[in-house]
Amino acid sequence: TPYDVAVLVGSLRKGSISRTLANALIGLADPRLALRLVEIGDLPLYDPDLDVEGGPAPWARLRREIAPAAGLLFVTPEYNRSVPASLKNAIDVGSRPYGKAVWSGKPGAIISLSQGLLGGFGANHHLRQMLVFLDVPAMQQPEAYLSNAGQLFDAEGGFVSPGTRDFMAAYLAAFASWIERAAKRA
Ligand code: FNR
Repeated sequence: TPYDVAVLVGSLRKGSISRTLANALIGLADPRLALRLVEIGDLPLYDPDLDVEGGPAPWARLRREIAPAAGLLFVTPEYNRSVPASLKNAIDVGSRPYGKAVWSGKPGAIISLSQGLLGGFGANHHLRQMLVFLDVPAMQQPEAYLSNAGQLFDAEGGFVSPGTRDFMAAYLAAFASWIERAAKRA
């Protein structure tokens, strides 16, 4: 059976390029992977005072959906040179209660994008910093910084450039191998 991969998208807007990309990746994924979107838009802001008896229902839902995943794929734009607050919030929610973080030990991969030229580098690396603390071994290579993201997709959500499509397919194959290596170590 393929590895169950939870996909977190760091944008909440309807027309999100990140979400279009995540959906395109589902169609492109290595046969060793089964990608599944986990929603983060309904999570109340993390507040330890509310984290009693499972906390608000959306927090429990997020934790429940992340727990069985064999891997974590983050697809995110950059907001002010970092990750969007919605994604940071989801990470915070999943990191508590203390000692019960749902992320721990799950291999991860990060794809960042921007409509400009920098490819969301700032967001990508801020996210990596969080993953170090959360004990999520993040794939080092290949890295994925997609620039000019406004030109990536056609009206049907397909990749315009075969080069980008092939790169993403290779990226997902590398991630499948990364998960395999982590599974063998475990
Ligand atoms: C942005 N955007 C942006 N882009 C970038 O390359 N670096 C940045 O620091 C920022 N900062 C930023 C802050 C805020 C509050 C917003 C709303 C936007 C632009 C943003 O990355 C761009 O709109 C992406 O297309 C958003 O991704 P989705 O929603 O298309 O997935």
